[in-house]
Amino acid sequence: MELEKWKEAGKIGSEALAYAKSIVKPGMKLLELAEKVEEFVINKGAKFAFPINLSIDAVAAHSSPSYNDEETAHGLLKIDVGVSKDGFISDLACSVDLTEDKQHGKLIEASQKALDEAIKLIKPGQELRTIGKKIQETISSYGFAPIINLSGHELKQYKLHAGLTIPNHDNGSTTTLREGMIIAIEPFATSGSGIVQDGRPSGIYKFEAEHKTRDMLARDVLKYVLEEHRGLPFSGRWIVKKFGVRSLFSLRALEQANSLHHFKQLVEKTKAPVSQAEATVLVTSEGCEVLAKLL
Ligand code: CO
Repeated sequence: MELEKWKEAGKIGSEALAYAKSIVKPGMKLLELAEKVEEFVINKGAKFAFPINLSIDAVAAHSSPSYNDEETAHGLLKIDVGVSKDGFISDLACSVDLTEDKQHGKLIEASQKALDEAIKLIKPGQELRTIGKKIQETISSYGFAPIINLSGHELKQYKLHAGLTIPNHDNGSTTTLREGMIIAIEPFATSGSGIVQDGRPSGIYKFEAEHKTRDMLARDVLKYVLEEHRGLPFSGRWIVKKFGVRSLFSLRALEQANSLHHFKQLVEKTKAPVSQAEATVLVTSEGCEVLAKLL
């Protein structure tokens, strides 16, 4: 039963990413893209495990349109989608080159190839460092660097980052994979230094702890995010949709009270472009089964 839901989340996630890739065009508003993909997923009877990440050029991850966002699709766009079926999650991503001269082809190929090579290594008993080493070697063979302070992660019900991290370089970890684990593998490749640092606020939030607040609306918002998202990240835009623009003040108050965590964008240190590929896989007795990946 559980496995069926993991598979369902994987199938809908894969379809949603393929759909997003098929409709995105240079100049299209990111907000429009986000809303179309959201409608697609909801119509399939699933929810989001996190707001769609639409990150451009040197922004590696953690960027999602705000309710009044004017930014348009351009450059090297990463589309990272997370779908939840009763808390069973799929997490997958691809990169799209929206430049006129298609200058990012090799960079995109590097992260895709690294993902494919990593998937071949997934089996019970495999050391994490071996997977990271393969990702690093593959990306380096294209003349690029992996982002070493971003990593893949284990998935559990309602937990996006549970337990293991899957490194994008040889981090020395001799921890091994076990049958039945579900993991997201996500190599990032860059022509820059391979380190990301915090950038602007992302518009993506997560429940942190319940602290007292005098703001009635803030209390309602907090109650809602707990019921609706159960600790999974959510978009400020969804809160505005539900509670109106006034709720932006409540989000700010909840953030200041440490009831909510507001994620920052993750930006490549030297402002060099970053590509990403991501899939969700189940570790099986023989190797792995891909649950979610770009079709
Ligand atoms: Co992920």
